[in-house]
Amino acid sequence: PVPNVTLNDGNTIPQLGFGVWQVPDDESYTAVTSALSIGYRSIDTAAIYGNEVGTGRAIADSGVARDELFITTKLWNGAGETWTADSVRREFDASLERLGLDYLDLYLIHWPRAVREDYIAIWRAFAELKAEGRVRSIGVSNFQTAQLSRIIDETSVVPAINQIEVHPDFAQPELRAFHADHGIVTEAWSPLGQGGALLDDPALARIAEKHQRSTAQVVLRWHLQIGNVVIPKSVTPYRIRQNIEVFDFELDADDLAAIAGLDVGNRLGPDPDEFDMG
Ligand code: A2P
Repeated sequence: PVPNVTLNDGNTIPQLGFGVWQVPDDESYTAVTSALSIGYRSIDTAAIYGNEVGTGRAIADSGVARDELFITTKLWNGAGETWTADSVRREFDASLERLGLDYLDLYLIHWPRAVREDYIAIWRAFAELKAEGRVRSIGVSNFQTAQLSRIIDETSVVPAINQIEVHPDFAQPELRAFHADHGIVTEAWSPLGQGGALLDDPALARIAEKHQRSTAQVVLRWHLQIGNVVIPKSVTPYRIRQNIEVFDFELDADDLAAIAGLDVGNRLGPDPDEFDMG
């Protein structure tokens, strides 16, 4: 069983979920179906991923009760538009329709798009959707401390979650400390470093051998033990299973210290201060 983390609004989220970034719509049906049958209960998608329809069909066909699930999607607040309460609501409704759901567990602003500064208006619209019960929790993604401070100062509504890029070689200590100070849960995207060179790191390989686990499992365990919520992505059934089998072993202080030494600031995705989402 996956433990829950309590959010600052009193709701809970499973500490480990299933991410479907870069999974095409038809494959998302198969992947989410596997994940739900293996025991995942939290699914993370986004409007821009183009797979809300396949994800929603998998949820409907799974037979898992809605109240046992935690479904996240994200507003794609790009496309050259200046966002208003109405346009946010239009996108929210469209996502729910594609997913075939009548409420969401978590809705995130996908990127701050900091240069436009309309994330304040978006955030006020999110707070209204939450007040109406259409979404249980609201948060942001890829926000930096400057934008988090601004929305907290200007609206007094603290995001439940900031979903950001985190993996051992990009550990984001300052941003995570800011989250801890403000009661914001850190949710890690690309928790496995996108399955790249990180998983071949010799220090991780030594720790993996010591625990008779894979390096991916060691990395996920590191996230869990430092308090992150994680949403690893895989379309490979044995990996989907392996990635949830991380609640029956524990890294010790030496392991954690060795992994802390891997942080070289290796960002893989866009820099949120510059990214305007096209
Ligand atoms: P695949 O989907 O082909 O199984 P992240 O969540 O950090 O973005 O990482 C996702 C990438 O890591 C995908 O390419 C995925 O490959 C790969 N991956 C997921 N789980 C594992 C695992 N347990 N071992 C190795 N690679 C994995």
